[in-house]
Amino acid sequence: MNATDIETEDSAEPTASASGEAPCARRSPLSLRAAWAGGEAPISRLMARTLDRPELISLAAGFVDPNTLPVGPTLAALKRLTADEERLRAALQYGTTIGLSSLRRQLAERLIAADGRDDLDPDELAGRMVLSAGSNPLLFLISDALLDPSDIVLCAAPSYFVYLGLAGGLGARAVGVESDDDGIVPEAVEDELRRRNRLGEGSRVKAIYVTSYYDNPAGRSISARRRDQLIEIARRWSREQTIFLLEDAAYRELRYEGDDEPSLWSRDSDGSRTAYVGTFSKSFSPGIRVGWAVLPPQLFGPVTSQKGHMDFGSPTFNQYLVDTVLREGLYDPHVETLRQSYRGKLDVMIEVVAEHLGPLGARWSRPRGGLYLWVELPEGIDTGLNSSLFQRALDEGVLYIPGELCYPSEGVQRPAGGLRLCFGIPSIRQICDGVAALGRAIKREQA
Ligand SMILES: Cc1ncc(COP(=O)(O)O)c(C=O)c1O
Repeated sequence: MNATDIETEDSAEPTASASGEAPCARRSPLSLRAAWAGGEAPISRLMARTLDRPELISLAAGFVDPNTLPVGPTLAALKRLTADEERLRAALQYGTTIGLSSLRRQLAERLIAADGRDDLDPDELAGRMVLSAGSNPLLFLISDALLDPSDIVLCAAPSYFVYLGLAGGLGARAVGVESDDDGIVPEAVEDELRRRNRLGEGSRVKAIYVTSYYDNPAGRSISARRRDQLIEIARRWSREQTIFLLEDAAYRELRYEGDDEPSLWSRDSDGSRTAYVGTFSKSFSPGIRVGWAVLPPQLFGPVTSQKGHMDFGSPTFNQYLVDTVLREGLYDPHVETLRQSYRGKLDVMIEVVAEHLGPLGARWSRPRGGLYLWVELPEGIDTGLNSSLFQRALDEGVLYIPGELCYPSEGVQRPAGGLRLCFGIPSIRQICDGVAALGRAIKREQA
């Protein structure tokens, strides 16, 4: 639901007040925001179906592989942390809203090294960082600080569907912009900005949201050239107000090929326009729920005060745990193990997709990292939640994410035939069987 098409519930039914005064409109007990947040998301219904039918092979859920969860490194870090009574006491106490300073300092050092920004002072950078329980709350808080109802955030089409729901829940409008194998297309971003200006909505565009590495759902990374172009476009189009870049780097560490590319944030020389959001969910453990962000000065106050109102600090224990994992050198070897394991699963998925879906006319591109493979089926096949293909796939025992869920309702039109496959949680056997089952469903659809 959109901020523009909200009507107060029951507003058509005036009721007499108890005192016998003139009838008045009965208002919904809920806030507009509650209405914008909507009912149960289609994706939750879809996940519930998996739980109802445990025999289904889910190539849908974007979960990490349970077999590569860091049991050993976590036990080692816990041992270390619990052996130091003073640190343990601190870990069991409330912390600060922005989070543990030693972890922020370690993250600052790592980001400076990864992005080649030796010109930055790690202490100063740590002071611009905030930790949270996973990165999603920070995507929310940053968007909340930027977007009023009916404001616009430009997103790649397709995009991380949770973010699309999040923007809608704030009453904002996510507008989809064309994206290809090199990520969001800067020329299309600029066309959209021009269009919004023509429509008198230029000042409504507050942010551009991008998953810059191996995105969810399409596995795409933004090329070096496009990163520079996006920074330049955000700078040039910041006329009536700043257009912020919201860089979601959730999958940065899950790189299976090629070199790491400096972030968009690192190209924004003074960091005044870009918020960079990272997480340990994909590269270590989603259960520990530690995410973080570097915020531009204009956003730091609003985001941290709202966070203070909400939680006055994310779980301290988890932050100490991750701090220990990094300090003890347990993190990087684990990421290397993950890379090897996921690279192998990606190879298998590509192989079976080529075998079972290739001959049916499907197209895909090999991602260089992440957890997802985006597949486009030939024209005329609808992959949607209510499509016959989706039902046939369920009958064959496999679940996928319909591409339509990943498209903003405005902007680039949703193609009917996209779907997302995840190779995170399924075993190699399940990847093979699941893709074969999907092939059978598509064949029946084409018959
Ligand atoms: C692109 C993207 N960003 C952010 C997140 C949020 O992850 P977390 O809140 O666990 O850090 C996810 C989770 O799937 C994601 O796919």
